Amino acid sequence: MEEMFKTLPQHSCSWLKGRMTLYNYQGFWNVQPAHEGAIMAQQKFKARPTDVLLCSSPKTGTTWLKALVKTNFASSKYILDVDTFHARLGHTSVSKLVHLSKSFDVSNFKCENMDEEPLVDRNDPPHVVPNTPVSSSSNDGVDSSVPSPVPMAAEPSIPPPINNPLPTRKSTRAATKPAWLKDFVTPKSTTTLPHALVPFIETELHKIEENHKNSSFSLMASHVPYTSLPESVIASECKIVYIYRNIKDVIVSNYHFSRDIVDVPAENVPFDEAFEEFYQGISACGPYWDHILGYQKASLERPGRILLLKYEDLKMDVTSNVKRLAEFIGYPFTIEEENSGVVEKIINLCSFKNLSNLEVNKSGKHHLENDTAIENRFYFRKAKDGDWENCFTDEMKEKIDKLIDEKLSGTGLVL
Ligand code: A3P
Repeated sequence: MEEMFKTLPQHSCSWLKGRMTLYNYQGFWNVQPAHEGAIMAQQKFKARPTDVLLCSSPKTGTTWLKALVKTNFASSKYILDVDTFHARLGHTSVSKLVHLSKSFDVSNFKCENMDEEPLVDRNDPPHVVPNTPVSSSSNDGVDSSVPSPVPMAAEPSIPPPINNPLPTRKSTRAATKPAWLKDFVTPKSTTTLPHALVPFIETELHKIEENHKNSSFSLMASHVPYTSLPESVIASECKIVYIYRNIKDVIVSNYHFSRDIVDVPAENVPFDEAFEEFYQGISACGPYWDHILGYQKASLERPGRILLLKYEDLKMDVTSNVKRLAEFIGYPFTIEEENSGVVEKIINLCSFKNLSNLEVNKSGKHHLENDTAIENRFYFRKAKDGDWENCFTDEMKEKIDKLIDEKLSGTGLVL
């Protein structure tokens, strides 16, 4: 592997005082450990149809997306799994579901009224959501069709049972809630960075393999460009959510994050050099526009399997986009959940204000498998749309607008 890297085009980032070297592999730039991890994932990672992969270029809202989807997964899986699975399998009457959904309070994540017998054993695996896209409006004119929610009386296509450790309703009662979920929602005690809850396939494969042993469905993430994803991701038909963001804000966010992780003070780092590199396509997972175009093309070819979401749109209408996300991953909110404010609670829990104020995100560190650690606070800077206006000159704005016009014209994408 070492020998191979010597043959690749490489670039030492001068604005980071040479503390970061990027290599171009399969058409994209990245640091060596990330490329090595991606190669390892290509060789070893076995995706399953029930997996959900959250993909993105760095600095586009990955942390937020991880928090939102994980919390949605957790709330539906932990609290409502028994009921929603049953409903999806066509065994539970709506009134029963209403009754059960009234029996929990998401704000405390406490289950009450747990005296009933299990409706279904949690060893029942979820069924694979059929690939039946319905048209959906996209904010950019991008055709990001989403599948319809699983019909209540649909004939389930159940994969062979996999060792699914989700507790039965009885054991749920005894266990109250999983430790990580407790940590996630308890600000003052030990808490957890969203990245520690949703591992990257290219840097934390080991964790994913462990999750796979223990569960029949997993949530994971990747910054790897679509064309370099492990073949099993495509072959398995697992679902992909891709988030992207206004390029100018990504450039600024990337400037601050890169500087922070290599520990070079702002006064020593000229923004114009960082801008120029990004503009040339040289950035982690860059060229940024090619990263987006790869996923957009795939989403058009495989509607219903890949959902494109724009950070700014998520911000502008978080409620309907969170519902859309939940539907897409196969865990739509019930009317009763919506009426009881579950969606808003998830949104508030994952808001920038809440997450950035958690003690763990102010003072904790995220340890990666390659022995590096990143301070959690670096993932939460301003989350402000249009922050680029504080850094860009008129000339930079013009250059980027022209570039984006050239690269994305006719794609329906707006950056
Ligand atoms: P800024 O640097 O513009 O503040 P990523 O998670 O892909 O690394 O992206 C990081 C960007 O997302 C940062 O943008 C960060 O502040 C913002 N972010 C982090 N958590 C967020 C949240 N809960 N809601 C909205 N934006 C968030």
